[in-house]
Amino acid sequence: MDWAASPLFIYNTMNNQLWYKDAVFYQISVRAFKDSNGDGHGDLRGLTEKIDYIKNLGVDCIWIMPIYPSPLRDDGYDIADYYNVSDEYGKLDDLKGLIAAAHERGIRIIMDLVLNHTSDAHPWFQASRSDKNSPYRDYYVWSDTDKKYEGVRIIFGDIEKSNWAWDEKTQQYYWHRFFSSQPDLNFDNPAVQDEMLNVVRFWLTLGIDGFRVDAPTYLFERDGTNCESLPETHAYLKRIRHLIDGEFPEAIMLAESNQWPKELSQYFSSGDEFHMAFHFPLMPRIFLSIAQNNATPIIEILQDTPSIPDNCQWAIFLRNHDELSLEMVTDEERKLMWREFAPEPHMIHNLGIRRRLAPILNNDRSKIELVNSLLFTLPGSPIIYYGDEIGMGDNLNLPDRNGVRTPMQWNSSPNAGFTKGEPFTELIQGQYGFQHINTESQLANPDSLYRAIRRMIHIRKEHHAFGRGSIQFIESNDPGVLAYLREHGEEKILLVHNLTDSSRSFTLPAEYQGGYINLLTNEMQNIQSITLNPYSYHWMKKHAH
Ligand code: NOJ
Repeated sequence: MDWAASPLFIYNTMNNQLWYKDAVFYQISVRAFKDSNGDGHGDLRGLTEKIDYIKNLGVDCIWIMPIYPSPLRDDGYDIADYYNVSDEYGKLDDLKGLIAAAHERGIRIIMDLVLNHTSDAHPWFQASRSDKNSPYRDYYVWSDTDKKYEGVRIIFGDIEKSNWAWDEKTQQYYWHRFFSSQPDLNFDNPAVQDEMLNVVRFWLTLGIDGFRVDAPTYLFERDGTNCESLPETHAYLKRIRHLIDGEFPEAIMLAESNQWPKELSQYFSSGDEFHMAFHFPLMPRIFLSIAQNNATPIIEILQDTPSIPDNCQWAIFLRNHDELSLEMVTDEERKLMWREFAPEPHMIHNLGIRRRLAPILNNDRSKIELVNSLLFTLPGSPIIYYGDEIGMGDNLNLPDRNGVRTPMQWNSSPNAGFTKGEPFTELIQGQYGFQHINTESQLANPDSLYRAIRRMIHIRKEHHAFGRGSIQFIESNDPGVLAYLREHGEEKILLVHNLTDSSRSFTLPAEYQGGYINLLTNEMQNIQSITLNPYSYHWMKKHAH
């Protein structure tokens, strides 16, 4: 079946203020996606050339990682100019071209907005550190002592030993929550607050559809607190939302805040702060459930998750460009996950696991599909990390998190069809090499992972229950079986997952028994019980009568 041609293919998510509640997102490193000019670096024109690939997968919104001018000490999360695009990615006009090509196809584009810190190469910091009397001194957080805000956790603990860095010239310390090359902006300074509102307005005026807001948790610092999620921080984030609502009502803000559900849901406030937030605690529990053959971690964390305002939405994900973060699990669970998914020490980074989805799951096709089935059916909007739809691998020889940011594998021609030049980093070899894993062969093969994922996406897009519906867990006497009902209006979809490596049989409670359409096979079935193959997933739509 040609999904793209099917009349059911898309309900239009353009011209719809709550579009993000139904949307499928796709995260892209522009550097790694497609090079158009042979310089070995992916660029905006290259990404534009591939827009139909993204469209065909069923994506509604692309998140592009930072493309700003940057010394790249943190892959662009260290910004040196908030109003431009780095030369290696192209010009602002190329971004406009990408936005136009995407919008023509009903695809939106959000980008990273890094509020908390700049690069130390940013002219504001250069001026700030040049002289204690510079008008920019107060753009950053300076102190005579490195004992202030003691006890605040160090996020990049593998590299940084303090949140303060000494500045030789002006003989004071400056505050940084991430690398010392990323000084924190001082949000107590009204000028900083206004600068960042201007940045927001600039990109939205250009046509960007919103922001993945990087590290919004740390904007303000206060003595005697952990300096996270402070009331002042929420108040400022609401100012950004206010601007957006007034001037760009369809744009969104997505919060990257690695917190427990209760703190996390504060980022939605009463529907007047963020539109979306990553559900960080759910993500590791999807993997934990597989490791333990037990649905409890997923069920418990979702039961612990407060309900959110109607105009808000969770963003759910399996992997991204960072390490698989294990901050939101207990020490014991973390150890178990390291044992299971990061058996070699160099696979661990900070607290997490710096591997891609397919290698984490031992390239086990049924497990990969199973976790994707959870991604597409649990409450929230799914975000796919580029390349995971074809099961790309990683390169652990690269430092930091770079091993999961390697070139997209388009075909088996030299350099994976990524560039005609010398790629910015070596391509993956061996089992996950582009000769074996690439989009061209997977598009052509009806049994490929890509085709399975595309199919799930397209079925999802035909049903509002996934993006908007309630969830009800269905009691099973087998902890290895995760069953839930997603319900929206008349639409009822039963999802059943076998989280174990053995066959199971699941008997539906009487009130759920009856006629269903198997959405994955299109068969009509009268169901009292289901036989579940190892790691199998079942999407069953309740027959109307
Ligand atoms: C979170 C981003 O995902 C990560 O890549 C980055 O290093 C930090 N924020 C600092 O900006």
